Amino acid sequence: MSWIDDKAHAGLELIRQVKAMQMYPHFRPFESGGIYTTIEGKPIVNFSSNDYLGLTTHPKVKEASKRAVDRFSCGMSSSRVQATTTAHVELEERLANWYGYEKCLLFTTGYQAMVGSIQALSDRDTTLVLDNLSHACILDGTFLAAGTPMRGAGIRYFNHNSARSLERCLRTNERKNALVLIEGIYSLDGDRAPLPEFVEVCEKYNAVLLCDDAHGTGTLGRRGTGIVEETGMGGRVPLVVSTFSKTFGGIGGILLGADEVVDFVKHSARAFTFSATLPVPVVAAASVILDMLEEEGEALVQELHDKASYMRRCLIELGFDLGRSDTHIMPVMCRDQRKALFMHVALLECGVMMVPITYPGVKEGEERLRCNVTRGHSREDMDKALELLDSYGRAFYVQSGEDLGPMEASV
Ligand SMILES: Cc1ncc(COP(=O)(O)O)c(C=O)c1O
Repeated sequence: MSWIDDKAHAGLELIRQVKAMQMYPHFRPFESGGIYTTIEGKPIVNFSSNDYLGLTTHPKVKEASKRAVDRFSCGMSSSRVQATTTAHVELEERLANWYGYEKCLLFTTGYQAMVGSIQALSDRDTTLVLDNLSHACILDGTFLAAGTPMRGAGIRYFNHNSARSLERCLRTNERKNALVLIEGIYSLDGDRAPLPEFVEVCEKYNAVLLCDDAHGTGTLGRRGTGIVEETGMGGRVPLVVSTFSKTFGGIGGILLGADEVVDFVKHSARAFTFSATLPVPVVAAASVILDMLEEEGEALVQELHDKASYMRRCLIELGFDLGRSDTHIMPVMCRDQRKALFMHVALLECGVMMVPITYPGVKEGEERLRCNVTRGHSREDMDKALELLDSYGRAFYVQSGEDLGPMEASV
C-alpha cells in the first residue's frame, strides 16, 4: 500500500458513511436522456437538470446530430488548431450575431472556456477580482493564472453580489489591470448578479468585466440571450462566457467579445489549443437549438418563466425557504445534511429526483435540494413534486426548521 491508497481511503470516509446508510446520491446511472428517464427500470422526473428550455430531446435536434455523425463522425481526432470545420465556423458567426458581440469562440466545455480565457488574458500586471461564491471554473482559472511561473496574476475576492465590496477591491488594486469575474445567475443559489451596478464600478476603475452566463443563456432577457439583454447592458460587458451544457442541450463552451480579444484568446488559451475539437454532432445539435431560439425564443422563455412562477408561488405557500433565489433555479433549503439526504432518497423512491447539495459544495448549514424548473416540466410533474416535498418536508421538519434529533430516531 502506498501513500495514495492511504490518502484515498482517508478521503473517502464521509462517502463510505453515506453509502452505508444507502443514501449516496451521486453518479446514479440514467437509462435514457432527457428529464423523463429511468434508474434501475424505475421512471423518474429529473428536477436537477439544466435543460432549461427542454430542447435537448427535440426530434429535430436528434436528427441534426445523426446527420452530422454520417458526415463528420463523432470526433475530429485533434484540436481546433488543425481540426476546425465549417460547422464550427458557421455556428461561431451565428452565436456572435445572436448574442450581439463581434466574435465568438467555441471551446469544448464551458469549464475550459472560462479557465482558458482567464489564463490567456491575465499576467503579473493583472489582478483577478472575483465573487466569493464563484463557480469552480472561475476559481480554477484564477488559481492557474496566479500559479503560472513568471506570470502570477494577483487574486482579490469581493463579497457575493456586492458592488460596494467590488469597488473596495478595485480602489485598492495595486496592479495595472483588473479582470472582474462574475456569474449572471449563481447555479446553487439561483440569484442574479446586480449587473448594472457591477458595470458602473468596472467602468469607473477601468476594469474589464467577464460574466459567466451559463445559467442565463435561454432563461433571461426577452429573446433569452441572457443577463446582458435582461438588464439592458448591451455594449457594456466586454466579455461573456456561456455553455452548451444547459439550454443548448449538449456540451461546449462559448466565449464572446471584441474581435481581436477573442482572436488573442484563440491563439493563447491552452485549454483551447491543447484539447480536442468540440464534436460536430454536438455543434449540429446546438445549431438547431439556436434556430429555435431565433425563431421562437420569446415564447420559449416566457413558458419557462410561467412555470417557474407557479412552482415558486407554491413552494413559498408550502412554507419552503428558497434562500436567495429569484430565478427558475430554486434551491429547497434544508439547512442540515441529513435532512437533505433523507429528502432526496424519499423523493427518489416516489419518482422525483432532486439532488442534495451538501458540504463542501455549500457551507455547513446551507444544505439544500437542487430544484430547477425547466420548460420541459408539466404542471403534473410540478404538482407531484410539490406534494412529495410537502409531506416529506413535514416528516423531516424541513419547513419548520426544527432539529431532526439523534440519528437513530430519524432513520
Ligand atoms: C456557472 C457555470 N459556469 C461554467 C460551467 C461549466 O460549464 P460546462 O458544463 O460546459 O463545462 C457551469 C456548469 O456547471 C456553471 O454552472
